Amino acid sequence: MKLFIDDANTSEIRRLCDLYPVDGVTTNPTILARTGKDPVSVLREIRALIGDNGIIFAQAVPLDAEGMVRDARAIVRLLGQNTIVKIPSVPEGFKAIRLLQEEGIRTCGTVVYTPLQAYLAAKSGASYVAPYVNRIDNMGYDGVGIVKQIQDILVRHHMDTEVLAASFKNSQQVLELCTYGIGSVTCAPAVIDAFVNNLAIDGAVMGFVHDFAGAVGENKSMADLIG
Ligand code: G3P
Repeated sequence: MKLFIDDANTSEIRRLCDLYPVDGVTTNPTILARTGKDPVSVLREIRALIGDNGIIFAQAVPLDAEGMVRDARAIVRLLGQNTIVKIPSVPEGFKAIRLLQEEGIRTCGTVVYTPLQAYLAAKSGASYVAPYVNRIDNMGYDGVGIVKQIQDILVRHHMDTEVLAASFKNSQQVLELCTYGIGSVTCAPAVIDAFVNNLAIDGAVMGFVHDFAGAVGENKSMADLIG
């Protein structure tokens, strides 16, 4: 399963890329606006941070297919290869996804709340579909269940589209989908940190440090002892 950072805060992206095996960064207009900086400079900075092999997602803003296509071309021009353009999964978006596929620009059908919305984005040619797990939960439906249904549809119909589940608020939601075998998740930094935020883990690690220090003295590593 690919793991993406759903944020545009460059110091957080730097920290997470340093620590965790992340595959890239996803953004949307709200995430970019939250930085309070020029969106184009932020996207450029993110590309520089994750390198040419990292995958970056940026969203087309217009509501009509022609405008979406224009934004998509500009985004790919700005960010180069390994760029996926997010297109809202609405009727004009399906048209844009189809036109972009014809010119070789890869897209993610985003703002997915229902399985048939995902089906239409996939059938239009999206490389990814992004269902919003927590937002669906907040509407009183089962976000994880809907993502599983989307995954089943894509697999059963042999569609060449990957699920990029988004909008997580806790690691349990991610775990269920990871176990189910979905292709990608994108999470805010705090949710990624929460994968290993566990006092039992910290206690076990500190136990090893404490026991070793008791045997050979404080702050001595294996390298110190071996020389
Ligand atoms: O990138 C879109 C998605 O992650 C939205 O997340 O946290 O705003 O529901 P959120």
